[in-house]
Amino acid sequence: MDLLELMAKRRSVRKFTDEPLSQEQLDRILDAGLLAPTSMNRRPCTFYAVTDKDTLAEISACKKAGGTFIKDAPAAIVVFGDEAKADTWMEDTSIALSFMMLEAESIGISTCFVQIAFRKGQDGSDAEDNLRSLFHVPQSYRISGILALGKADQKPAPYDTAKLDRSCIVKI
Ligand SMILES: Cc1cc2nc3c(=O)[nH]c(=O)nc-3n(C[C@H](O)[C@H](O)[C@H](O)COP(=O)(O)O)c2cc1C
Repeated sequence: MDLLELMAKRRSVRKFTDEPLSQEQLDRILDAGLLAPTSMNRRPCTFYAVTDKDTLAEISACKKAGGTFIKDAPAAIVVFGDEAKADTWMEDTSIALSFMMLEAESIGISTCFVQIAFRKGQDGSDAEDNLRSLFHVPQSYRISGILALGKADQKPAPYDTAKLDRSCIVKI
């Protein structure tokens, strides 16, 4: 399948089957994260690949809304970007998340990006602080988002490239 077709097929999935990811699937997806470019090749990212059910439930409790489905996902990858290493942590982590999304899609695993930076926890706390505490990482470890992963139970239809809204494109 060509890359554009794969991108059209990728949709955010928030309801997964119980089927676990194989170690090989998880490793391929993590390799994609490692292959992502980073500014000045500073590589500030640390990847926590989580399949432990209790930890998945704890991750989902770190954010007030929009990520509760992580507790029922077979896996999640939390990407920390060390701002002490790179002021581009936001871009570096987001590109790594995007690469992993596409590799996952290519092997039949669906994903959803869950926003963490600038989001609240359940009790008005900070979602990033909650995750840093959970994983015992330093304050300089920032988190743009988490990738929820699994086999889709419900998946929206692929995009039709013929119907893309091209009004936001300016060609000069
Ligand atoms: C930066 C970013 C943050 C997102 N945060 C969340 C989130 O916190 N919770 C969620 O359910 N979906 C989240 N999404 C998924 C978007 O809602 C989704 O990508 C968008 O509605 C388009 O749908 P599609 O991914 O199926 O094309 C996020 C996506 C991006 C790119």
